[in-house]
Formats: sequence, structure tokens, C-alpha cells
Amino acid sequence: MSDKRKKALVIAIDGPSGVGKTTVSRRVAKALGYSYVDTGAMYRSLAVAADAAGVDIESDTALRDYCARVNITYDAVGNMLIDGVDYSGSIRTEEAGALASVTSAKTPVRDFLVACQRRLGEAGSVVMEGRDIGTVVFPDADVKIFLDASHEVRAARRHKELAERGGAVASDVSKKIEERDKRDTQRKNSPLVAAKDAVVIDTGSLDINGVAARILEIVKERTGL
Ligand code: DC
Repeated sequence: MSDKRKKALVIAIDGPSGVGKTTVSRRVAKALGYSYVDTGAMYRSLAVAADAAGVDIESDTALRDYCARVNITYDAVGNMLIDGVDYSGSIRTEEAGALASVTSAKTPVRDFLVACQRRLGEAGSVVMEGRDIGTVVFPDADVKIFLDASHEVRAARRHKELAERGGAVASDVSKKIEERDKRDTQRKNSPLVAAKDAVVIDTGSLDINGVAARILEIVKERTGL
């Protein structure tokens, strides 16, 4: 076992949409030899699967029943499978994001996925990214990072990402980010907020390499890893 793997830390990376969390978190996990958990993908997959199953995603009762009856497993690369189905190919659309933003405000969905996330992270050696990892899922995480950037920077990044993926780019990407931010920060259950003991990094003036390097520096300063 390499030195890097000796400490089984939990590293929480939170922040709003379009801030570059996914690329940065994957890079940090790879550098440390840790596993990586994208909790946004879990919320997106569950929302798409529930919608496809005809569940009323506005109804707490219907969502509670749905969560109680689905079987969750993971494939070799960590994708969450719902009743054996991998939704990862269809969750990166604005529509899936909007569905996830609605269902992720619902307590039955949050309780269910937070429990799944705690099980995934309990052994440590994990980089987990999301909105509430440092505040709710792992309030005792060894290192907590909150990535932020102005609304304009995030809208421009999301626009570029969607264009690069080759799909149609709606003219209202910026408005959609604003709406999602509002729902994520104003919901009653686990609103998006930096943990008091998180290190906040403004990613506006840094590229991906710069942000990943800064996080690895913080991990080293705080844990000696
Ligand atoms: O990070 P993302 O855009 O893939 O997240 C999709 C939605 O899920 C987003 O509206 C916020 C929500 N989410 C959440 O509420 N808690 C998390 N830990 C991760 C995502």
C-alpha cells in the first residue's frame, strides 16, 4: 500500500452548479488514489428513474414509496444502478438537472440518498462531491472544500460544456442556473451553504489544474497526506 493510501480520509467538496466540481473532484481523487463519488449523479439518476416510472415527483408520499421499493447497486466504475439500470447516459441534460433540482428538495429522497452516500463513504479514502457533503452527509469530514464562482462565470462554463457535448444550447442557460441556484439555496432541507469549517475557493480566476493543486495543498496542510 502506498503512503498516500495509509490515511483513509473523507474529503468533502461542495458548491453550486457550473463551478467545476466534477472535473476537479475526479482529479483530486485520482491524485490521492481515492475513490470518487458524484452525489449529483445520484440525485439525477433517481429523479430520471422515478420520472420514467411515472412517479409524481412533486409528491413526498409517492417518492417515499418509490425509494422504499427500489434496489440500489453500483457498477465497477461506481455508477449507481437503480433496479439494475444504469441511467448515467441520460442524466447530463438540462431536463434531468431540472428534475433532480425538484426531487432533491424532497425529504424522502434526501434521507434515502444521504444514507446511501454515508454507506459509500464510511470506509474513508473517498472524495465525495455535492451540495451538502460537508454540512450533512459527513459533518466530520477530514477536509471540507467549498468551490464558488460568480453567476456569470458559471453560466459561461455551463454554456461551453453543453456546446462541447454537441447538443442544442438553450438561450436561457444563465436563467436556468439562476433558478436552480435559487431552489438549491432556498430549500428547507439541506440548503446549499458552505460548512463553517470549509475552505472556500473562488474558482473564477483559476483553471482546473490550479483548483485541483490548491485542494491538494490544503489536504496536505491539514492532514499531512
Ligand atoms: O451537481 P449536479 O448539478 O449534478 O446536481 C443535480 C441536482 O442535485 C442539483 O439541483 C442539486 C442536487 N444535489 C443536492 O441537492 N445535493 C447533493 N449532494 C448533490 C446534488
